[in-house]
Amino acid sequence: MATIQWSETYRLGIGSIDTQHQRLFKIIEKINVLDMQNPSLKNEVREIFYELSDYMKKHFYDEECHMRRIDFPELEHHQTMHHKMIHQVNELIASKLPLEMIQTKLKFAIKKTLIEHIIHEDMKIKRYQSHNRRPHHDDFVMELPQV
Ligand SMILES: [Fe+2]
Repeated sequence: MATIQWSETYRLGIGSIDTQHQRLFKIIEKINVLDMQNPSLKNEVREIFYELSDYMKKHFYDEECHMRRIDFPELEHHQTMHHKMIHQVNELIASKLPLEMIQTKLKFAIKKTLIEHIIHEDMKIKRYQSHNRRPHHDDFVMELPQV
């Protein structure tokens, strides 16, 4: 599978969300390049899987707070999609499947759901925001540690 990298296509123009999306892509990249043939990396692999799950949870929570602040009308529907994605990822990483198979399924799920979600659903926030209100003073750019 080709590497998935953040690009301007994914930019919402909302600093805090864009910064978090960039970090998500960095974690996804780590999962994509994991060498599953190396048994000594087993613990590291698990850690990266949980890093993805934890960061998705944090990011979705922050994104939902932003939607609430701007009175985004599809908040509930959007929230449901977030919950489904977290559930799907958590179920996968907690499964008893071999790590290599989890990695493959995770990569597929990320591409099919998370990336598609950014392109189709998160972009609705951008459109709503640009049509309905001026940029919010909370649209700050967060300083995040390098992944
Ligand atoms: Fe979202």
